[in-house]
Amino acid sequence: MASFAKYLILPLLLPMVFAIMFEGVEAIETYPKVAVAILNNLTSHEDLTLHCKAEHDDRGEHTIQYDDLYNLNSLRNLTVSLYSCSFRWASNETLHYINIYNEERDTCYDCYWMIREGGPCAFNFDTASYDNCHAWNSNLQYAKTLTSNHGVDASNANASIEFD
Ligand SMILES: *[C@@H]1O[C@H](CO)[C@@H](O)[C@H](O)[C@H]1NC(C)=O
Ligand SMILES: *[C@@H]1O[C@H](CO)[C@@H](O)[C@H](O)[C@H]1NC(C)=O
Ligand SMILES: *[C@@H]1O[C@H](CO)[C@@H](O)[C@H](O)[C@H]1NC(C)=O
Ligand SMILES: *[C@@H]1O[C@H](CO)[C@@H](O)[C@H](O)[C@H]1NC(C)=O
Repeated sequence: MASFAKYLILPLLLPMVFAIMFEGVEAIETYPKVAVAILNNLTSHEDLTLHCKAEHDDRGEHTIQYDDLYNLNSLRNLTVSLYSCSFRWASNETLHYINIYNEERDTCYDCYWMIREGGPCAFNFDTASYDNCHAWNSNLQYAKTLTSNHGVDASNANASIEFD
């Protein structure tokens, strides 16, 4: 009888457990939530290797084929408001840097970038095209100086390197 009761109680308890869990999730959802999609549009049609990170949030190195998207989703930590990425491709192993999301600069919640050799272009919702183009940051130090309050060290496209 005791073990039979256990099977009756468990289905009654589970919905309560889930209700408590989802309440917790909803509380987190009140932070601004941003999604950034990055399109490989290299004119050479090469693979694009990228590595995006913010302080306390290293998304690791990823390689995407031409015309594919990389999604950097749910950046919802209020204290993590600056994401930097490095990019490289086979014919140019130089790391090219850009701040992909900067809370002080960006107003988008669904942000889109198109990556080309000459530099990244952000999607402009006013013109509905990728015409908000940026020069590559020549080095990470320069990328860091774009914002005053958020010190981020994206180091390079090497996952073993830590933030300072
Ligand atoms: C990608 O680049 C090609 C030219 O190389 C251009 O025709 C195309 O519109 C670009 N894709 C997007 C989504 O802008
Ligand atoms: C949010 O940011 C704080 C401080 O920067 C950090 O300690 C915490 O781990 C972060 N949380 C998540 C979920 O990234
Ligand atoms: C690699 O990229 C850098 C920065 O955009 C550029 O200055 C350099 O000329 C490129 N090298 C080659 C071999 O294309
Ligand atoms: C990555 O970092 C490790 C440790 O610092 C180093 O030994 C390695 O050469 C680096 N790899 C690249 C591709 O930079």
